[in-house]
Amino acid sequence: MKKILIIGSNGQLGNCIRKIAPDFENRYEFIFTDSQTLDITDEDQVNDFFYDNKPDFCINASAYTAVDFAEKEKEKAFAVNAEGVEFLAKACAEYKTVLIHISTDYVFDGETNLCYAEDDFTNPIGVYGESKRTGEELALEANPHTIILRTSWLYSEFNKNFVKTMLNLFSQKDELGIVADQYGQPTNANDLAEAIMNIIEAPQKIFGIFHFSNYPETTWFNFAEKIAEFSKSSVKLNALTTEQYPTPAKRPKRSTMCLDKIEEVYKIEPKYWETSLEECINILTK
Ligand SMILES: NC(=O)c1ccc[n+]([C@@H]2O[C@H](COP(=O)([O-])OP(=O)(O)OC[C@H]3O[C@@H](n4cnc5c(N)ncnc54)[C@H](OP(=O)(O)O)[C@@H]3O)[C@@H](O)[C@H]2O)c1
Repeated sequence: MKKILIIGSNGQLGNCIRKIAPDFENRYEFIFTDSQTLDITDEDQVNDFFYDNKPDFCINASAYTAVDFAEKEKEKAFAVNAEGVEFLAKACAEYKTVLIHISTDYVFDGETNLCYAEDDFTNPIGVYGESKRTGEELALEANPHTIILRTSWLYSEFNKNFVKTMLNLFSQKDELGIVADQYGQPTNANDLAEAIMNIIEAPQKIFGIFHFSNYPETTWFNFAEKIAEFSKSSVKLNALTTEQYPTPAKRPKRSTMCLDKIEEVYKIEPKYWETSLEECINILTK
């Protein structure tokens, strides 16, 4: 039976993979690890783990994801998002493991009116994006069997994310200001987990970078409006400009990614974001 190692299983994506794993347990053995059982910044631990387990697939769902803190914790962000990824990729190369590594739309600067294709020029504008871009490069360099999935605006019923923060704030406030001039594509982490399993099941693997998100693009303001609508909240939302809501890390203005490559190569059709959001809100509010 083929082995799938999941790194960072306690994160949003890790939990979503855990949720669907029972559907695949007759074909794959899943090994779920967290930062306690496998810390990717410890090269010896990574090598020992691979030596003991020799996985066929490694899904790296781990990351340093605190976009604003990263501005002050550059070393920490790079340790997990770049160096740790290289340790994993090198171990994968040693055991011919397919590495499925998750990256972000924040590798782009957001200064475009078109969607970003996989091979478009990257130019991260914050430390988090920089560390993730370096991780992409190191992973591709160290292991020829690497598939990078860039995703965006990830949320789920698990852990901390924009949807859960909004629901929480809606229950405490009558009025909220939300940024309305940043564009991107929300992604339900359950859809990403499904896409990853589809790739693992694909008879032929094409390696390299792919974009995966829900679609079409929207703004944080419109996203919040839909969260309010689906959760039947009467909160009043006010549109803000980025200047009116300063954050330690700059965000790309428009980081919408083109999704046709993953559709053509792996026949994975991204879902409409409102449909996936409604599914998540139904879980969170039932
Ligand atoms: N969240 C978003 O909006 C977003 C957007 C675009 C792309 N992404 C990417 O999508 C992927 C999944 O994100 P997510 O939101 O599911 O992340 P998450 O919920 O923040 O979870 C990240 C996990 O990584 C683990 N981790 C951190 N350092 C580690 C280490 N040294 N060794 C092993 N595990 C470690 C954490 O474990 P502990 O809790 O035990 O420390 C945590 O469970 C990441 O690659 C992220 O960069 C996320």
